[in-house]
Amino acid sequence: MIPQAFVQELLNRLDIVEVVERYLPLKRAGANYVACCPFHNEKTPSFSVSPTKQFYHCFGCGAHGTAIGFVMEHQGLGFVEAVEDLARSAGMTVPEEEAHAGRKADAGLDGLADVMQCATRYYRDELKRSESAIAYLKSRGLSGEIAARFGIGYAPDGWQNLSAVFSDYPTAPALAKAGLVIDSEGGRRYDRFRDRIMFPILGNRGAVIGFGGRVLGEGEPKYLNSPETPLFEKGREIYGLFQARQAIRAAKKVLVVEGYMDVVALAQHGIDYAVATLGTATTPYHIQLLLRQTDDIVFCFDGDNAGRKAAWRALENSLEWITDGKGVGFLFLPQGEDPDSYVRQNGREDFERLLSEAQPLSQFLMRELTGRVDMHSEEGRARFLQLAKPLVEKVSAKALSLMLRKRIGELAGLSPEEVGSLVGARQAAKPAVRRAVDKRMPQSVGRLLLQLVMLQPALAAGLDRALLDTRQADMQALAELLDFVQANTPGDLKAAHILHHFESSPLQTLLLDAARNLEWEQFSDEEREQEFAAVVDKLREQVRNRESRTILAEMQGKDFKLWTPEEKRLYLEQSRRDTVSPEK
Ligand code: CTP
Ligand code: MN
Repeated sequence: MIPQAFVQELLNRLDIVEVVERYLPLKRAGANYVACCPFHNEKTPSFSVSPTKQFYHCFGCGAHGTAIGFVMEHQGLGFVEAVEDLARSAGMTVPEEEAHAGRKADAGLDGLADVMQCATRYYRDELKRSESAIAYLKSRGLSGEIAARFGIGYAPDGWQNLSAVFSDYPTAPALAKAGLVIDSEGGRRYDRFRDRIMFPILGNRGAVIGFGGRVLGEGEPKYLNSPETPLFEKGREIYGLFQARQAIRAAKKVLVVEGYMDVVALAQHGIDYAVATLGTATTPYHIQLLLRQTDDIVFCFDGDNAGRKAAWRALENSLEWITDGKGVGFLFLPQGEDPDSYVRQNGREDFERLLSEAQPLSQFLMRELTGRVDMHSEEGRARFLQLAKPLVEKVSAKALSLMLRKRIGELAGLSPEEVGSLVGARQAAKPAVRRAVDKRMPQSVGRLLLQLVMLQPALAAGLDRALLDTRQADMQALAELLDFVQANTPGDLKAAHILHHFESSPLQTLLLDAARNLEWEQFSDEEREQEFAAVVDKLREQVRNRESRTILAEMQGKDFKLWTPEEKRLYLEQSRRDTVSPEK
């Protein structure tokens, strides 16, 4: 954690006009400065920077914030990185003492994040010192600039190198919990990553949550990855996404490849909208996450059997999530090539030409299925229908579903009515809203409500402030947020306005955190309303529970014969609740 006081001090020293001008030419317009907004496409400038208020605001897209916010958004940096960057430019040093305070015996998530950050820095420094590691990266065509952009490092050979950075190396639980060390059965602790090129994997806020480590040259395993930790769940993370976000927006598409080296090599050749899954199949979660960033996903796989299989898995997992207007494409490279080797040999233009010819999902689906049967026989075509049916029935996008069924009819020689009677449109409603709520880290009711109100301030009207126990930080933040929302027109409020209002308040971090939670973005207003109502119900239930417990505690000393009817009812109610859902 960077102390709030330092952040304030930094903002005081910086001039936002000067900061923005490092990236974008500004024109003077009265008291302010203007430009065409870098965050959305426009021809006439509606992006304005105020030297007196020290913030920027876009009247077109609502982008809004301080110098730090600008650098984060514009450069795709995390908060810490942006602060470090700006501090450097202002000749200030970010205080570090708190990072160490966080590395105490019982390391929470913050503790894990800290050790990962320290390790990343260590590996990065070691890379500068290792001639063999530098030579290896050079032999793979990477420049120092790209290595720096991806934070690539080197874990030197040796068993306990990390003890140089962590004074509590032999005992700190966080090191094992973060997957950086392994505790042997004999009780000795040693570094997991030794003599490997280190690829840091960043989470959605830009913090390092895991590593992939590659041997230099030949060796097994070729890649060693961080184990699953509380920070890192492979099926949910995407390598390179944090760095690529801006480029994905600009390119209006995301390219999904298989390997770390593919992402990095593509970036080296100017294709910086590529990401990779982490040696796992593409999960529905990946698809949803990517479709929230852009409308078009192109998967690029090797042309071999394994590649086609992986592509098929990606297709199966996409069907449910595509909506009309979103597209998924598939690109197969010639045998023996991967994006890294292909782009190095043939260059960017050639690769992007291939990309533009990627097969749309419908085409890949039909080719694959018709290839599996003999379409010249009746039996073969019946089998084709049988294979297509469960897949098409997963599609919730109406137009796509219709198109697919039409094409099936053409291929199988059936009329639309005949296909209709065999292959249905998707019946089930969208999957239950609740599955989106992050199951990995159960969230407090207060946190959930904060996230929802930040995203959709009008929801605040449905919450009775009296329910909030303001002794809890989340609830206190929520109460202040409600006051602010109610004093304004909730319909016009955007998260940016709220954040600006609370800019120097101690609540800022909580609110910022809530605003960055992307889980909710994929839901409609209506679905969010439903979820909000359900969470408020839960809160009400909690409050009721707490109240009756207080009364019950008071009744404890009293002879039960003297209980009033009201007290008896409460007692019964509470014991019923306790048997159904014991409170922990
Ligand atoms: N992978 C892994 N563990 C392995 C091998 C592969 O986790 N033992 C994952 C890595 O994420 C890797 C991806 O699968 O980036 C693709 O593997 P592969 O095609 O074998 O490697 P490349 O990315 O081509 O790596 P390189 O070019 O360095 O050989
Ligand atoms: Mn490769």
